[in-house]
Amino acid sequence: MHLSNEAEPALLDLLAALERIGYDFVPVTPATHARVLARPDKRQARNVRDVFGWSLPFAPAVLPAEILEPLDKAGLAQAEDGLLKSRVRVGRLHGRLIVHSAYPTVEDDAVFFSPDTMRFADFVRDELLNAGNVKRLVDIGAGAGSGAISAAAVLPGARLTLCDINPLALRLARINARHSGLDVETVEGGLEAVPGGFDAAIANPPFMVDEDGRTYRDGGEMHGGRVSVDWAVAAATRLSPGGRLILYTGSAIVEGKDELRAALEREAAALGCTLRYRELDPDIYGEELERSSYADVERIAAVGAVIERPC
Ligand SMILES: C[S@@+](CC[C@H](N)C(=O)[O-])C[C@H]1O[C@@H](n2cnc3c(N)ncnc32)[C@H](O)[C@@H]1O
Repeated sequence: MHLSNEAEPALLDLLAALERIGYDFVPVTPATHARVLARPDKRQARNVRDVFGWSLPFAPAVLPAEILEPLDKAGLAQAEDGLLKSRVRVGRLHGRLIVHSAYPTVEDDAVFFSPDTMRFADFVRDELLNAGNVKRLVDIGAGAGSGAISAAAVLPGARLTLCDINPLALRLARINARHSGLDVETVEGGLEAVPGGFDAAIANPPFMVDEDGRTYRDGGEMHGGRVSVDWAVAAATRLSPGGRLILYTGSAIVEGKDELRAALEREAAALGCTLRYRELDPDIYGEELERSSYADVERIAAVGAVIERPC
């Protein structure tokens, strides 16, 4: 998706207008989204939530002028079969609006915000409440910036660095942060592109086996667990003494065994760090188990891991 320079202030105006009308939407999984859109009353948008939540095509009269104008100015109202379609969606997380990619997220540079993001943000917030003095936090693979924006609520004054290989994600993350009244620094690339030390890192890495290789989704080998292990090692190696990595991810369970947990235990011990690990949801994305790449997997668990470097 192309985002012009004018798009950034226009999207800020759009978010402000959505706040004024009390807009609210909780993002759902792609499978749920598809089920809802299959209903006969979900062919064409009838209100603002249909446009920015369900990504339905709309007639211009559906949107108040204060919302249509900034969307149009941002160049994000795309003509489709005689109607318009917003190229962005907007959801709410911990009270804050987050702009992200429209459904379906088929493009390589799609910017992610889903129920995983919400579990990730809850886990991050809970873990950071007792984290002591965090001066700098790095959000690895920040996407639309949801994790860092949620973390900021419990870390007032902390320096926030967001990295991602997707430049579009970083642009939307800056807009989302600005809308929440936050200053963030963004770095295009992985953690290796982020200079300097940090005392907290958070990540919700790609953790699925994705035949299309989409960067927000494809977690590589170990049924999608490889990227999580690699990011955990890279972050734990660079944490300041007393610092912590807060990792939200998915783990493919094969015959009752959690290979990701075993790998993280090995790596944390080798680095002299401690690991806390727990399942946050025992069964997510069950529909993926129909794919041949998951033929031996009995469930995918959402897990939270905290790796701490001793003081
Ligand atoms: C599952 S999404 C999570 C996004 C966001 N943290 C959230 O929770 O909504 C994973 C993100 O990692 C990014 N990513 C993938 N590979 C990466 C890499 N090697 N370095 C940095 N970011 C990467 C993707 O572009 C995507 O934004």
